[in-house]
Amino acid sequence: MTNLKIARMGHPVLARPALPVQDPTSPRIRRLVEDMMETMKTASGVGLAAPQVGVPLRLVLFHIPAGRRRTEDAEEYGDPTEGVPLTVLINPQIEPLDETVVAAFEACLSIPGMTGLVPRHHRIRYRGVGLDGQEILREAEGFHARVVQHECDHLDGVLYPMRMSDLTTFGFADEIRLRYAPGPDAGG
Ligand code: NI
Repeated sequence: MTNLKIARMGHPVLARPALPVQDPTSPRIRRLVEDMMETMKTASGVGLAAPQVGVPLRLVLFHIPAGRRRTEDAEEYGDPTEGVPLTVLINPQIEPLDETVVAAFEACLSIPGMTGLVPRHHRIRYRGVGLDGQEILREAEGFHARVVQHECDHLDGVLYPMRMSDLTTFGFADEIRLRYAPGPDAGG
């Protein structure tokens, strides 16, 4: 496994739409995923999209640690986020399940050191294909839904600042932590 270089905001690979994966079960895709897993682990991220490692394909991976509390879950929506094991999602599609939109702080491995308050759909359904070629179909809410939306945005050249409605909440994470609690977590 190889720890890959992560493209940072401004690199053209992050700005253009990624292409569908033709054969999710191919050895080339499996190798890419192994390298992305290593890269995500090294960077302490919760998610990573293929364009972030310079590969313009529609593939993301993420994991949601159990019990993680976010402002949106703890304050308004009760239970802490349920854990989700490491998931590889190829050619994903997302649909919102209702109109509820919640703002929470996000960070991104391609925008190191920064954070911002990003409105996202609270409940979504997402589908895609796994490395075994089998369909994945899930409903998600809260932090889980947020991570999936963040990662899938990378496949369309969208970075979280482009989703922000109030840029006064965008800034360096260590400065923002002085104003808001709890602090933002590692992004994807
Ligand atoms: Ni990101």
